[in-house]
Amino acid sequence: MLQKFTDSYGREVNYLRLSVTEQCNLSCFYCRSTPGECGKETGKELLTVENCLTIGQVAVDLGITRIRLTGGEPLLRPDILDITGGLAAIPGLKDLSLTTNGILLEKIAFKLAAAGLKRVNISLDSLDEANFHQITNGGKLQSTLQGIEHSLQAGLTPVKINVVLLKGINDHEIEKFVAMTMEKELDVRFIEYMPTQGQKKWSHLFLPLQRVLEIAEKIAPLVTVDGEHGGGPAQYFRLEGAVGKIGLISPLSRHFCDRCNRLRVTSDGKIKPCLFSDDEIDLRPYFSAKEQLRAKFFEALQVKPDPRKVACSPVDRVRQFQGKRSMTQIGG
Ligand code: 5AD
Repeated sequence: MLQKFTDSYGREVNYLRLSVTEQCNLSCFYCRSTPGECGKETGKELLTVENCLTIGQVAVDLGITRIRLTGGEPLLRPDILDITGGLAAIPGLKDLSLTTNGILLEKIAFKLAAAGLKRVNISLDSLDEANFHQITNGGKLQSTLQGIEHSLQAGLTPVKINVVLLKGINDHEIEKFVAMTMEKELDVRFIEYMPTQGQKKWSHLFLPLQRVLEIAEKIAPLVTVDGEHGGGPAQYFRLEGAVGKIGLISPLSRHFCDRCNRLRVTSDGKIKPCLFSDDEIDLRPYFSAKEQLRAKFFEALQVKPDPRKVACSPVDRVRQFQGKRSMTQIGG
C-alpha cells in the first residue's frame, strides 16, 4: 500500500493550493497593503506551465489528490487552459478546482470545464453594485454575477461563493447573501477577515461569524450539514428548504489547524507549509531534479507547525501570524 503523505502531527496532507500569479484585475482594499497595485507586474519570475505540471505530478505521486489553482486572479494567465488541461490529465488527481473573482468567467467557464476543471470558488464580497465597486476598487458586480451563472451552466459545481465578512462594510448584506442559497446550487461561505502583512489596525473590520447564524435563523430554521471532501475548513448549515449551503470559515476565532490537510505553492515557486507562518521552501532550483523536488515537499511536511500551539483567541492568533506576504502573494 502507498505510504500516506502525513506530517509530524499525524495530519494527512492531500490538498495543494497552487498559485499561478500575484496579479489581480480587482484591488480589494483589505487584500493587499498597497491597494491599486494589484494589476501590476511584480517582476518576479512566474512558474511556467511546465513547472506547474511538474509540481502537480510530484505532488500527486506523493499522495496529493486535490489541487486548487489560485492567485492573484488565476484567469489572468493567458495559458490557464494549458495549466488546467495538463493538471487534469495527471492520473490519480481526483479534484481540480480554481478560486477566482469571477470577472473573466463569462468568457472562459465552458473552456475550463472542457479542459478538465471540476469546480470553482468565486470571491464576492457585496451584492450591491456601489459597494462592490468600492470594496474592489472599481470592479463591476454584473461581471462576477455573470461569471457565477456561466459556471453553473458549465457544470463547474458545486459553485462556492466566498464572502469575506467585513464589519461596517458588508455585514448589512448577510441576509441577501444567505438568501442566495435558497434557489440555486450555491454554497455561500463567509470567511473571517484576517489581517495580513502585520496590519496593526484590523479589529474595526473583524466580525465573528456567529452573526451570520443569528441572521440566517431569522429567515428559516437552520440545520448542520456535512461538507464535501472529508471536512475542509468550513462548518456547513442549510436553511430549511434551501438548495445550497451556508458555510462558515473562522480562521481566527475557531481555528482548524488540527485538521489542516494542505500545502501551498506560491506563483514564484515557494512552498508555504502554513498560511500563518513565513516559512518558505524554494522549489525553483529543483525543477529538473524530481527526486530533490520530492525531498523539498517532505521538508515542507516536516515544518508544518504544531496545531496544539495555535492560539484560540482572535487577538492572540493575529499576534502569532507573522505573515510578510499579502493574501494575493500567497493565494488565499
Ligand atoms: N482575510 C480573509 N480572507 C481573505 N481573502 C483574501 N484576503 C483575505 C483576508 N485578508 C479571501 C478572498 C478569497 C479567498 C481565497 O481568500 O476573498 O475568496
